[in-house]
Amino acid sequence: MSGSSTAIDFRAIDRILEKYEYKKSYLIAMLQAVQEIYKYLPEDAMTYIGEKVDELSPATVYGVATFYAQFSLEPKGKYEIKVCDGTACHVRGSMPVLNAIRNKLDLKEGKLTSDDGLFSLETVSCLGACGLAPVVMINDKVHPQMTSDAISIILDTLLSEERGQ
Ligand code: FES
Repeated sequence: MSGSSTAIDFRAIDRILEKYEYKKSYLIAMLQAVQEIYKYLPEDAMTYIGEKVDELSPATVYGVATFYAQFSLEPKGKYEIKVCDGTACHVRGSMPVLNAIRNKLDLKEGKLTSDDGLFSLETVSCLGACGLAPVVMINDKVHPQMTSDAISIILDTLLSEERGQ
């Protein structure tokens, strides 16, 4: 479990639980609502839900959250990077691009958010822009026909902008 130190507003969680009448059948909707607030599922929030909702436990909530790809158990970075590894992007070289990002941001496999909290990384199966493969999205911006050199320059630019602030 990722030990997060996000301060939780438990009254906001209570409002979500009330809306869904503390029913375990609404667990997914509750978790979606929590993720809308924090952009991920803080551990303390999952524990709280597990303790408050009848017939649930923190372990069950955690198990459900890890099962569904829509839920993130780590905080997202200021820059959310999505590398497409769908078929079109894969055959046109998404893996070298992914590896270049991991190296640049010191993200080993399984580590999804950089230590400074600036960048988070995920792979996705298709961004619907196969003609531009390989594609990387950073927040809402699509970067077409990426190469490892090009993504390194983009990341360097973002890093120097951040350091200059
Ligand atoms: S496979 Fe990458 S955009 Fe479709």
